[in-house]
This record gives sequence, structure tokens and C-alpha cells, in this order.
Amino acid sequence: MRIVSISAALLTLVALGACEAPRSGAGEGAATAAGASDASASMRPTFADYDAGAVPGGPGAGRAYGLGASATSAHIARIDLDVGDTGAELPAGRGSVSDGNALYKAQCAMCHGQRGEGMLPAYPALIGRDPAGEDFKFATDPKIVPTIGNYWPYATTIFDYIKRAMPLTAPGSLTDDQVYALTAYLLAANDVIPDTTTLDAAGLRAVRMPYADRFIPDARQVPAPVK
Ligand code: HEC
Repeated sequence: MRIVSISAALLTLVALGACEAPRSGAGEGAATAAGASDASASMRPTFADYDAGAVPGGPGAGRAYGLGASATSAHIARIDLDVGDTGAELPAGRGSVSDGNALYKAQCAMCHGQRGEGMLPAYPALIGRDPAGEDFKFATDPKIVPTIGNYWPYATTIFDYIKRAMPLTAPGSLTDDQVYALTAYLLAANDVIPDTTTLDAAGLRAVRMPYADRFIPDARQVPAPVK
């Protein structure tokens, strides 16, 4: 019974569709019971209508769909912060080991430990040159804890990481001077630079990490896709 009444309803719809103004157009012959809903679909604006500015309340001609906004160069500059291994992108500014020490105690120690020992496994150790950890024996001794001093490949990317990601609860909140100071403090605490250092872009680019030669650029080519 139910099936019968549905078919009856469909027939009614087809009949209504047929009574409407004749629908022109080849290729629409296949439309049957869907004819009625096609008719209302044709009333709906298309993307082209929006593009042409023909939709009341739409964004206007040439304004696409009104979504988003063009990125200005000021906006791009705010998020274009990455600093790579050469440090070419390092900003102006400077910071001392002692300023970094104070900042570290205030903003970093609660997670990374007073002496940078970390709270493993969640919060990584940042400081430590345990003699057992020297000589990059990570592959043979899983107990060695990687730190900036015994593992990190480039001094410039310490700046990059801190500037973009730390402190964990407020990334991006540190000024460039503060990031230089924190980088200087962490490098000094790991015995990479003297405690009296003030770092700027040129100074940071000149710092060579103890195990830089244990990292090699990955020159492998991306394999061709399998077809
Ligand atoms: C709320 C906790 C928290 C605070 C505060 C915090 N960090 Fe972190 N930090 C983390 C966590 C968690 C990670 C690991 C993130 C990951 O591996 O994805 C991390 C990673 C790091 C690393 C990378 C370590 C590595 O070997 O990979 C550095 C460097 C670092 N933090 C520096 C800082 C500095 C400098 C500050 C202070 C300005 C700071 N952090 C404040 C939680 C914190």
C-alpha cells in the first residue's frame, strides 16, 4: 500500500512538472519525477551568478564568493617567520645570556625544569652534556637523553623553534630580543658559547653546534609516482 501511494505522489509531481512552462533544452529528456525539483534548482543562484554580482546580498561583481580576504604583505610578514639552517632569515635584535637566564626561569622552567632537565616524557630536556651522551651514541644507547647541546644540528633553528612555538601556552608572544636572549642562554647552558655572550643575527649564524656533522642534507629525490 505504501509503495503504491508513493508512486501516486510521484505521478502527481510529474504531472505538475508537465503543466509548468515548457522546459526547453535537449538533454533534459531524462528528467522525470525529478522535474519538479529541477525547476526549483534552476531558481537557485549559481557560482557564476555570484561572480557576476547578480545575487542580491552577494559580495558584488568580481568579488568571488565573498570568502576570506586577500593577504596583505603586512599579514604575510607576521607569519613568515621561519629561520632555516643558514640563518639568512634571522631578524634584527640581540639578547644576552643573563637576560635569557631570567626569561627562562620566568617562562620556561615550569615545563623544561629549573636546570633544563625537562619532565620526561612530555616536556623535553633542553640542557645537559652528560659525558655518557657525548659522541652521538643515540643509536646504541637508548637511555641517552637528547638535548640542545648533544643533539641539535643548527644554532639558528633553536631561534626558529622558540620564536614560533614557545612558550607552549603562548607561542609568538616573545619579542625577537627575548628569543635571542633565550637562545643565547640555552647555548651557554649547554657549553656551546661563553656565559658572557650577547647574540645577534651575525653572532648566531657563526655558532657551530657540536654535532652538526652528524646531520646530512637529505638529497634523495622524491620517487616518481607509480601509475
Ligand atoms: C607549558 C609547557 C611549556 C612551556 C612553558 C615551554 N615549553 Fe618548550 N616545549 C614544551 C613541549 C611539550 C615541547 C615538545 C613539543 C613537541 O615535541 O612537539 C617543547 C619543546 C621545546 C623545544 C624543542 C626541544 C627539542 O629537543 O625538540 C625548545 C627548544 C623549547 N621547548 C624551548 C622553550 C623555551 C625557550 C621556553 C620558554 C620561553 C619554553 N620552551 C616554554 C613545553 C613547554
